[in-house]
Amino acid sequence: MGFPITRMRRLRKSPVIRDALSEVNVSLNDLIYPMFVIEGKNIRNPVMSMPGVYQCSPDILLTEIEKAIKIGIKAIILFGIPEIKDAVGSSAYAQDGIIQQTILKIKKAFPELLLITDVCLCEYTDHGHCGLIKENKIVNDSTLELLAKTALTHAQAGADIVAPSDMMDGRVAAIRKVLDGSGFDETLIMAYSVKYASAFYGPFRDAAGSAPQFGDRGTYQMDPRSSIKQAVQEAALDIEEGADIVIVKPALAYMDIIKTISNTFNCPITSYNVSGEYAMVKAAAEKGWIDEKRVVLELMTGFKRAGSNLIITYHALDIAAWLQEV
Ligand code: PBG
Repeated sequence: MGFPITRMRRLRKSPVIRDALSEVNVSLNDLIYPMFVIEGKNIRNPVMSMPGVYQCSPDILLTEIEKAIKIGIKAIILFGIPEIKDAVGSSAYAQDGIIQQTILKIKKAFPELLLITDVCLCEYTDHGHCGLIKENKIVNDSTLELLAKTALTHAQAGADIVAPSDMMDGRVAAIRKVLDGSGFDETLIMAYSVKYASAFYGPFRDAAGSAPQFGDRGTYQMDPRSSIKQAVQEAALDIEEGADIVIVKPALAYMDIIKTISNTFNCPITSYNVSGEYAMVKAAAEKGWIDEKRVVLELMTGFKRAGSNLIITYHALDIAAWLQEV
């Protein structure tokens, strides 16, 4: 039946009708707030390309977490910036590494916080790649052992979820095996399964000091022009290897991928609203060209509608505050 019997505008007639018919709603439960911890004391370095984001020493980080929890944040993902970098990323899997020490402190102070840790080598290697290097190539299989070792030290310190972001083949299986073998069968793996070699990571590499010193990440991260089937296969392999949650990253230019993965698998999905996406919104908002709150909430609604269960976003603190306003 068409017009004039059918009038779609009746569905939008008033705020109360629009609210009643709203189906996609962002909530505090959806948000994961990324935080950067750096060695030292009393440090709060602003990240220039990411207004509102800081590299914090553990003492300051704890006060920042306390503030975040107060406004409703329930989950964070933690990235570490070590003092010493070397060819094999030793600080990534040191028992007393920056992340391991900080996990202990966070878990002691805020046991109820969902603590997720990024598992990768790029912040810890002097060459800035996510794996070991041999003859200028990023080698896969010998990297797996180091990633598994890293994940284990995070679990031992008290991480609830480990999130491998390196894109080596077989790392989820390697991590699951080592975790289970050491009695950490309850530690979740949230795998960066569908992760593209994206220009949108630029500001993050400023924040984490993890830009590759030669070449790029094209031999391990996915090509943005690759088929959707390849994305499905990446997710399928990780789920088969034991991933509990899969990540699609970046989010904005990959909404079709979020939707496809959500239609294909029963596994929960996290989308990563990455640093470059954040920087674009912040820059436009700073110039007064967009309404930041409305734009950010519309983006989050889009990620949810596409099928995301969780969203990693640097906007999390602002969103939490906005959600409490109403
Ligand atoms: C580490 C890692 C990166 C991001 C998350 N984990 C950088 C990269 O792959 O180069 C990017 C996050 C962002 O841009 O917000 N491998």
